[in-house]
Amino acid sequence: MSKTPKVTTHTLREMKAQQQRIAALTAYDHLFAGLLDNAGVDVLLVGDSVATVMQGRDTTVPVTMDEMVYHCQLVSRAAKRALVVGDLPFLSYQVGIEDALRNAGRLLKEGMVEAVKLEGGCDFAPTVARLVAAGIPVMGHIGLTPQSIHQFGSYRARGQAEAEQRQLLADARALADAGAFAIVIEKVPSALAAQITAAVPVPTIGIGAGPTCDGQILVTHDLLGLFTRFRPRFVRRYRELAQEIGAAIGDYCRDVRQGSFPSADESYGG
Ligand code: KIV
Repeated sequence: MSKTPKVTTHTLREMKAQQQRIAALTAYDHLFAGLLDNAGVDVLLVGDSVATVMQGRDTTVPVTMDEMVYHCQLVSRAAKRALVVGDLPFLSYQVGIEDALRNAGRLLKEGMVEAVKLEGGCDFAPTVARLVAAGIPVMGHIGLTPQSIHQFGSYRARGQAEAEQRQLLADARALADAGAFAIVIEKVPSALAAQITAAVPVPTIGIGAGPTCDGQILVTHDLLGLFTRFRPRFVRRYRELAQEIGAAIGDYCRDVRQGSFPSADESYGG
């Protein structure tokens, strides 16, 4: 029986070299992770966006390490092929490198993910280097970094001004030099993302960063039209499942109230 080869951090690097685009999506639970894995998604990110998408929070800031470990367990149990990456939540790696090591280690040991992601550039390069030295693969995340929303004050696109563009380029280089195996670039002009993609040897995964990145990531519930509280311009909605679900549940309620559910076929005799 042929076994689907597992995607590893090395696979992603080869994909960049061979100019094969990487398809990444978020996953927070076992059911969805299995569906996405079966459909051929290369990378499943257990994003801290679980806070806004699944927990009804306004930002990603409140999600805890224990909650991330739990969601990582659900996803990693389902993924047969995709690389599973767990997001380090706010304040799980910013306090100190030892803390970062312990918490990243928890995502691998308890959450059973194969890599972690953290937000930040040059300032976090020493943390990335330490995690990598300990055998923990790290995905970087630059541009719009939602954990810093209270510092930025808005979710506007980053890298518009020249100084910020230079900083983002330096951030990407520092992360790659520190050993990050891939870098998420969020909400920056396409031309800047293209420049960064050409400048670093590791794959870039764009979200709102134009078509030239080595891969793309979206929040699954956005692309399926399940999460409708807000819709960033970079989201392409492939389906409108919130409407579909609303219609299905409406039909069920109607049938129950009319007494047409369950039918004889849906009931037991005897
Ligand atoms: O938490 C998340 O879902 C993310 C991706 C959107 C990149 O960081």
